[in-house]
Amino acid sequence: MIKFKINDKEVQARSGWTVLETARQYGIEIPTLCFHESVASSGACRLCMVELREENWSKLVASCIYPVSEGINVYTETERVQNVRRWIFEMLLSECPSSKEVKEMAKKYGVFKTRFPVQNPNESCMLCGLCTRVCEEVVGLSAIATLDRGVHKKVGAPFLRPTEVCVACGCCVTICPTNAMRSRIDSVRSNTKMQLAKAA
Ligand code: SF4
Ligand code: SF4
Ligand code: FES
Repeated sequence: MIKFKINDKEVQARSGWTVLETARQYGIEIPTLCFHESVASSGACRLCMVELREENWSKLVASCIYPVSEGINVYTETERVQNVRRWIFEMLLSECPSSKEVKEMAKKYGVFKTRFPVQNPNESCMLCGLCTRVCEEVVGLSAIATLDRGVHKKVGAPFLRPTEVCVACGCCVTICPTNAMRSRIDSVRSNTKMQLAKAA
């Protein structure tokens, strides 16, 4: 077992665990959006940042991808962590302003509006990639992917056309933290599959 401290309390973790996994074992709350235990972590949203402190230095790390090691000192609620968390919520409110889920979560952490420009007020996808990862890693199909680049980046079936590859299992809808996939899934499934799913 590996021993280290979270918020000055000694904790133990197995080798290979992340800081987030350990914190959850001990009931310590760290907000996450792009993390799900069923798929590999990507560290996309950075909301799970925590501070690592030693005598002469400190740094912020994404707890969902940071592996534990002996003797580290992790802090989950320092001023630096709270500042970066608020900043990330503001970024999210500008990237996916129509997501009720993100708004509610941001409110819980004291963020009600964003200072960043809003490109599309109807956008609810934060491009976290959970939907594509669950389709590939759990369902084993890769029916959807991240398409285009930069501001045009989006999630969907190749060429944004309905695809027979999708079996309408709904895993991507369930895992989506912003509820964006619910309105997109009908453009992913082929009509045949959609009818099958409705008949089931
Ligand atoms: S649709 Fe949902 S799960 Fe997929 S990238 Fe967007 S926010 Fe993430
Ligand atoms: S509903 Fe389709 S796109 Fe979504 S996870 Fe299932 S197979 Fe993949
Ligand atoms: S939850 Fe860790 S980066 Fe998104």
